[in-house]
Order: sequence, then C-alpha cells, then structure tokens
Amino acid sequence: MLIRPWKYEDILRISEIEKECFPKEPWSFQMLASSFETEGFIGLIADDGGEIAGYGGITVAADTADIDNVAVCEPFRKCGVGASLLEGLCTAAKDRGAVKAFLEVRVSNVAAMSLYLKHGFKGAYARTRYYSDGEDCLVMVREL
Ligand SMILES: CC(C)(COP(=O)(O)OP(=O)(O)OC[C@H]1O[C@@H](n2cnc3c(N)ncnc32)[C@H](O)[C@@H]1OP(=O)(O)O)[C@@H](O)C(=O)NCCC(=O)NCCS
Repeated sequence: MLIRPWKYEDILRISEIEKECFPKEPWSFQMLASSFETEGFIGLIADDGGEIAGYGGITVAADTADIDNVAVCEPFRKCGVGASLLEGLCTAAKDRGAVKAFLEVRVSNVAAMSLYLKHGFKGAYARTRYYSDGEDCLVMVREL
C-alpha cells in the first residue's frame, strides 16, 4: 500500500468514497477540488496498485493542524490503512511546522474514536449538536 499525495484526477473517486463513508454530510466534488487552492492543505491517498483504498486530508495553519477527513473503503478496512493515513497526515503536518493536531469525531463513531485513541489523540472537549442531524462531536487533540 502506497501513501502518496492526492492528485486532481483522484478527486472524482474520492468524492464517490466520501458519499459512501459520510452519507449524511459528504464533501462535494467542488469542496474536494477547492482543497487544492487551500493554503496549508495536505491530501493523502492510500493507493493499492492504482486503486484508491482510502484518503485523508489535513490543513496546517501556523503551528496547528486540523484533520479534515480520514476514510477507508469498506473492503480495505481493518487492515491498517486508516492508521497509515493518520500517521502520514500527522507526519506531513509536523514537517510543515505544526506542533498540535486537532480533529472532530461523531460521538457514535466507535471505529474512528478507537483509531484516534490508539494513535495518541485525547479527548479535549465536546461540541453539542455540532452536526446537522443534531449529533454531538468530540474534539480530540494530539501533540505532534
Ligand atoms: C475509521 C476508519 C477510517 C478506520 O480505518 P481502518 O483502515 O479500518 O482502520 P485500521 O485498520 O487502521 O485500524 C486501526 C485501529 O482503529 C480501530 N478500529 C478500526 N476499525 C474499528 C472498528 N470497526 N471497531 C472498533 N475499532 C476499530 C482499532 O483500534 C484498530 O486497531 P487494531 O486493528 O489494532 O484493533 C474506517 O472505519 C472508516 O473509513 N470509517 C468511515 C469513515 C469515518 O468514519 N472516518 C472518520 C471520520 S472522523
């Protein structure tokens, strides 16, 4: 599995996976495409011989990074792809000068929360009714 920067031609497939993984609030093709113009954005792909197994994005501003998304296609889950993407994003952000990474996760998302806890993130605080369907989010943070 190769972890590499995402390219413009990956965006169509990423937007399809985004709909599968986040049916309630997927990033649109336009949102994903505009990430190329967002200063400090780093997008990574988990590439399995040309097939996109997963992807993730992080935005660095000064010494702080925000993880925008991490998603793995269903057939590739539970094989360490999410962990590789997460570590890749944290390393890339650290290389750009970030000392802390933040992320938001739905309180019901046991798989993601477990992944983040295992990789050094700690719960910082909750935001009530953060998502459009009324679910709360937990903000998590990790020193890089
Ligand atoms: C969350 C997600 C990215 C995990 O990706 P993955 O490639 O399956 O994760 P990994 O195989 O690298 O697992 C790493 C750790 O995460 C945790 N984990 C992953 N899937 C889990 C599950 N279904 N239940 C509980 N813990 C889980 C475990 O701690 C695991 O470590 P272990 O294998 O030693 O038990 C994936 O389930 C996904 O894409 N979900 C839908 C999108 C999403 O919710 N993204 C996060 C938004 S905040």
